[in-house]
Amino acid sequence: MHVENLTLAYGTDEPVVSGLTLEVPRGRMTAVVGPNGSGKSTLLRGMSRLLKPQSGQVLLDGKDIHQLPARELARRLGVLPQGPVTPEGITAAELVSRGRHPHRGMFARLTAEDQQAIEDALDAVELAELRDRPVDQLSGGQRQRVWIAMVLAQGTEHLLLDEPTTYLDLAHAVDVMNVVHAAAHSSGRTVITVLHDLTLAAQYADHLVVMGEGRIAAQGRPVDILSERLLADVFGLRATIVEVGGAPVVVPDRTLAV
Ligand SMILES: Nc1ncnc2c1ncn2[C@@H]1O[C@H](COP(=O)(O)OP(=O)(O)OP(=O)(O)O)[C@@H](O)[C@H]1O
Ligand SMILES: [Mg+2]
Repeated sequence: MHVENLTLAYGTDEPVVSGLTLEVPRGRMTAVVGPNGSGKSTLLRGMSRLLKPQSGQVLLDGKDIHQLPARELARRLGVLPQGPVTPEGITAAELVSRGRHPHRGMFARLTAEDQQAIEDALDAVELAELRDRPVDQLSGGQRQRVWIAMVLAQGTEHLLLDEPTTYLDLAHAVDVMNVVHAAAHSSGRTVITVLHDLTLAAQYADHLVVMGEGRIAAQGRPVDILSERLLADVFGLRATIVEVGGAPVVVPDRTLAV
């Protein structure tokens, strides 16, 4: 995917994303990090056609996503929004099966291929045993994993994920990161994911994009770009960066009340 000079705004408000250009590495995992309100979700909305750009373009294999028919876009681009709303009473398996909609004819039954994609996705997030449970009766983390499974089942070449690890305990966050990383490195999918955990982002991302106030403050390999200075400038965070296994680990400086 390529984002060219993209400006995004809500109504007549000041732009939230301004003239942003980004080349997303194909078949790799790109993480977008940045402070609350810096425009990460807005950027993902612009990249998935949920928000029409004020100016600029989003290109998928060279074609403007606004020129693609909705169904074709849904076959090529899967999106997990931040805080998706679960339809009432729907079971985990039913929600995941919705990921197959773009591949099916109206009212068509699930094919063997659809079934397989659904099972694989439920397995990938370790939710097969909860498949018949209503999603609104699951824990926050289980619910989040059902949504991730839905996007995985869609089987798209491009994945846009907005904070997929929110609500997850560290072990499940790592599991999801492994699944997402494998989607890129084993299956050749192009993944763009917003993350808040800088250490997790640095551990997994091939390409890291740091956003500040609607613009890209830095991008590149995590080990090349993450610095204490950058964290201070963009996040207003005092932290020490140490390296473990070749990847940066962010340790916030504590300020204790005395
Ligand atoms: N629907 C909306 N209408 C008007 N303004 C909005 C809307 N959604 C977001 N904004 C504004 O756009 C700015 C960027 O919001 P956005 O959700 O993109 O931030 P973010 O980087 O994803 O933050 P977070 O880390 O909290 O998810 C904020 O100032 C927010 O108030
Ligand atoms: Mg957001």
